[in-house]
Order: sequence, then C-alpha cells, then structure tokens
Amino acid sequence: MGKFTSRIYNFNAGPAMLPTEVMEKAQGEFLNYQGSGMSVMEMSHREAHFQSILDESLASLRTLLQIPERYGVVYFPGGATLQFSAIPLNYLAAGESADFAQTGVWAAKAFLEAQKFYPGVKSIFDGKPSGYMEIPEITDDLISDKAKYVYITSNNTIYGTRYGKIPKVKKTPLVADMTSELLSRKLNIEDFSVIFAGAQKNIGPSGLTIVIYDKEKLPLQKHPIPNLMNYALMEKSGSVYNTPPTYSIYIANLVFQWLLKKGGLEVMEKENEEKAALLYSSIDSSSLYTAPVPPNNRSVMNAIFRLKDTALDKAFLEGAESAGLCGLKGYRDVGGFRASIYNAMPKSGIETLISYMKEFERKA
Ligand SMILES: Cc1ncc(COP(=O)(O)O)c(C=O)c1O
Repeated sequence: MGKFTSRIYNFNAGPAMLPTEVMEKAQGEFLNYQGSGMSVMEMSHREAHFQSILDESLASLRTLLQIPERYGVVYFPGGATLQFSAIPLNYLAAGESADFAQTGVWAAKAFLEAQKFYPGVKSIFDGKPSGYMEIPEITDDLISDKAKYVYITSNNTIYGTRYGKIPKVKKTPLVADMTSELLSRKLNIEDFSVIFAGAQKNIGPSGLTIVIYDKEKLPLQKHPIPNLMNYALMEKSGSVYNTPPTYSIYIANLVFQWLLKKGGLEVMEKENEEKAALLYSSIDSSSLYTAPVPPNNRSVMNAIFRLKDTALDKAFLEGAESAGLCGLKGYRDVGGFRASIYNAMPKSGIETLISYMKEFERKA
C-alpha cells in the first residue's frame, strides 16, 4: 500500500504526528516494559507498573501547565466529543443556561449538544456567516447575566483560527475546548474554570481526553450524571473508575517527559510561533498561495492556505504526497489546504514544505 521506507512529514490534523523520540522509546519498551516481561498494552490497569505511569503522567502534566492544587486533572475516555455532553451535565441544573461562542464546527456541535439537555443555553457569537474566519472579543459585557459559564474553542482546527489572547472574563467562569492546542503555548490556568482536550493532536493517541477543572469556582451538580462523565466520580477514582485507555496514557506520559526535557511550554511556544511565522510569511509573500485567515486570528497549530488557481490543487497535493509531505488536504467543507504543525512537527518539516511550495510555484 504505502511506498515510504522512512517516516514522512505528517501534516494531518489528528490523529497527528507524534515525536519520533517518543515513538522510538515506546518501540524499545514495547515487548517488555521495564523488566515487567510484558507490554504496557497487556498490563492490568490496577497493577503497580501502570499506576506509576499514571501517577507520573498526571504529576508531569501539572508541572508543565503549572496547574494549581485546587484544580482536578482527570483522564476520560470517549474523545473530546464526550465532553460536549459532560460539561453541561456536570455544571448546569435544569432550567439553567450557559453562553457559547460558535467559532467553528466543534463549538457549534458543543452548543447543539448542550441545547439538547438545557434548551436555554445561548449562542453569543455565530461565525458561520463569515465562514468561521472571525474570532469574537469576549468581554464581560457580551456575556449574559444568567450564564453559569461561557464556552469557547480556543483553537479552531478546521478553520485555522485561534484566540491570540485568551479572553479575560471576570464575571463568568470560562470553559475551553483546547483539543488542538493544549501544550503548545503557555497558559495561565487560573484564566479558566474548565479546560479539556482530546489527546490526538499534541498529546498522544486518540480516545483519551484530559480534563482540568477548578474544584472551587464552578460548582459541580449533585443530580445524576452518567458515571463515565461524572467529574467528581472520575476524579475520586483516580481516572480508573473503569479500564482507562492505558496505552494512550503511557504514550501521553512519554510526550510529557519529552516536553519537560525540551524545557517546557515556554520553549515549545517559541518554537511553534517561529514555525508558524515561517510558513505564513512564505505564503503571504507568494503570488500563488493565499492564507484566508486574517493575521490576528491565525492559528499557530493549523495553517490554512489556498492556491489562487484551484485548477492546480490536485497536482499540488499529489506532488506533495510523493515528496513525503502528507495530510495537507483541507477539511471537506473548507477545501484548499491545511498544514497541521503541532509540537511534534520539526522545523525541518516546515522548511521542506516551503521548499516544495516554492518549487511548485516556480514550475506553475
Ligand atoms: C477543537 C476540537 N474539538 C473537538 C474535537 C473532537 O474530538 P474527538 O474526535 O476526540 O471527539 C476535535 C477533533 O478534531 C477538535 O479539533
């Protein structure tokens, strides 16, 4: 099927490229994890080897993000989408409401899911008419007085937009889907009451979701909540209420160790800003490519670009793929191209992509 004899530059939006060092480490201990005589994949989630992986991973995540003690940090199954239901169920009582900023399809899905259970939830921004190119300024004035929380998607994977600055809301707790950017930039965790992220971009294999939540600011509901969505129960059981996605947690831990060794999120943020600036400036200075997102709203993780002459799209993609630059096709509703350049994408991947783009433009 495939023709590559070594690793390619994988620009997929997720599941996405993981650091080669992490993959090599996992490969080295795949059959016999630290003298246990078995793979992490074959291990009981109740035994000591796995427990120490779990403990190390949660402690490392706290260190990387400087998470204050009063926040719970919990692993959930079910992908980021499960949190679209879990958040309203954990935080809203019957008849209560929350505000949603719909900056893309994922935010719109979260809004619709919350509306199913709590019909009073409110959309305070709908980016659909602008093709989701806009990012609202979320101020206290914009937020409804009765909203229990305000919900944002901090980085919009599909449209390549992000909140350059995290909204500083004072009167209402902020809940953020950070699936496509958690661990890519420094954060002040206290700006948020809840952060969640599916693992499959910057963290590890899919199916694992991280939830970080303030146990004091936004009270949890006492009404019945399905067990696997119940924040209090999942935290009390140390993320092992049932069998968790053990191998995904193991890989996530290796990613956290890789990040710590690199120098943490300050270093990562700088690298990511540099990589994105390199790519966007090359696109902006070309006469064949355009980046549709206004500069202030541009994502550092997902760079969207188009060819001015769309008749060349197919040739561009085929040429890229045979050069080992894969996963560049834009999301089906958006078209064009998207380079997802998460933490694991090395600068050499961006440079190789830029060289390919320049060569393609020269020949076009
Ligand atoms: C911002 C964002 N939120 C939510 C999701 C849904 O994640 P999952 O497939 O893990 O449910 C995605 C998937 O790419 C995403 O990019």
